[in-house]
Amino acid sequence: MEFTHLDIYGTFIDTPASGELRIREDTWVRVDIASGTIVSISTEMPSEPPGRARKKVVRMPPEAIVVPGFVDCHVHAPQYKQLGTKTDVPLMEWLEKYTFPAEAAFSSTEHAEKVYTQLIRRLLRNGTTTACYFGSNHLAASLVLADVCGKFGQRALVGKNCSDQLVPDFYVETTEGSLKDTESFIIEVRKKFGATEDSLVMPVVTPRFVPTCSVGLLKGLGELAHKYGVHVQTHAAESVDQVALVRSQFPVLRRDVTILSTVGLLTPKTVLAHCTHLYDAEASALSAIGASIASCPYSNMLFARAVLPVNRFSKLGVKIGLGTDIAGGHSANMLSAVRLAALVSRIEGFRPPKERAGDPFADEEEEERKREDEPVEWKQAFYLGTRGGALALGLDRVGAFDVGMKWDAVEVDLSWEEEEEEQEGSESTQEDFERWVCGHGGEASVRKVWVDGKEVFAIG
Ligand code: GUN
Ligand code: FE
Repeated sequence: MEFTHLDIYGTFIDTPASGELRIREDTWVRVDIASGTIVSISTEMPSEPPGRARKKVVRMPPEAIVVPGFVDCHVHAPQYKQLGTKTDVPLMEWLEKYTFPAEAAFSSTEHAEKVYTQLIRRLLRNGTTTACYFGSNHLAASLVLADVCGKFGQRALVGKNCSDQLVPDFYVETTEGSLKDTESFIIEVRKKFGATEDSLVMPVVTPRFVPTCSVGLLKGLGELAHKYGVHVQTHAAESVDQVALVRSQFPVLRRDVTILSTVGLLTPKTVLAHCTHLYDAEASALSAIGASIASCPYSNMLFARAVLPVNRFSKLGVKIGLGTDIAGGHSANMLSAVRLAALVSRIEGFRPPKERAGDPFADEEEEERKREDEPVEWKQAFYLGTRGGALALGLDRVGAFDVGMKWDAVEVDLSWEEEEEEQEGSESTQEDFERWVCGHGGEASVRKVWVDGKEVFAIG
């Protein structure tokens, strides 16, 4: 007989609200495996489940804690093999020189299956229980990506990338083909994984970004997003060269947020990657609509050469999560994004360079770029990588531990000196946890990972 419940005893640490660390020691969490939800949290051992139910009891070793799985709000699945390399040129050149050719190779579903399997296994063993993926332009390979997420049990939002202009001939789509394939993708993914808020894998309408999409494509994708009520993801206000290009393409509307709003792509389920060059008024517009930002501190340093003013935009009411942005970001581990989010927020005046001499708007933008912001503290950064990211993706039952929430969790080994039982300098669970988040944590410290109540990774 299969187990119906999981009773886990140990120390549970989460951040139910921004900056609020919750540590529950000597605690029992009961999970209903079929629904993947937490049914009780108590300091008393739960009683036998009723009827024919059968429980599996797991006692965590003393050096282990359990934390919510990470939520990676922005990953380019077909760029995985590029991770850590080929970042010597600005964004637009980088796409042309390295990224479009790498993505074009996903016309082969065998290649897609191989690379996506490697990526999803890697993310799971890093403790990423939810990821929001950009696929390539190909329908078949994007369906493979959705399937691989389902096969390995990762919670995922998956988009077939769309681009019908400014992309080399060997990779470009037609407007009609892109719209047709996007609709087929939405229908297929929903047929396989369901169309509810509870579905493990969900389709996302994914215009790559304004420069590579014609107005006809943007409008058509806006219509599909409304017709099916699905998520939308794209890049916005990312880098100096990208902002300048959009401005030259749209001399009247000028800005990503205005353009996306005009074509119906700004919805409460829209996730905009980067946004480092966003104006305060645009952040307020996102907040009013309920759209969110996926901040990718690693690639923001690389391409935007800027820092997202996280606290400033949070105060304006924008939901913010973190993304690795593989391969614009150089790490598959969300702890890197968490640490960098805290670290880069401390650099004062690290704003994009003034680059457009003679531009009548340059001074106005320069003022915007001098924006003051409060630093992001480490507990807040952990929140952004877990609960904050879940809320940014509209996953209200993910990212923290409460009754009724999903059991998406990671068992972490907190020990940091191999041979010593009692670790010198270790004063409290909170300090050990901080040491893990800000210092010693990494892939090797992840022992076990669950998604939706099911074990999806275990060491050894
Ligand atoms: N803007 C458009 N495409 C991309 C991409 O693949 N990566 C990043 N970081 N930005 C983009
Ligand atoms: Fe990106």
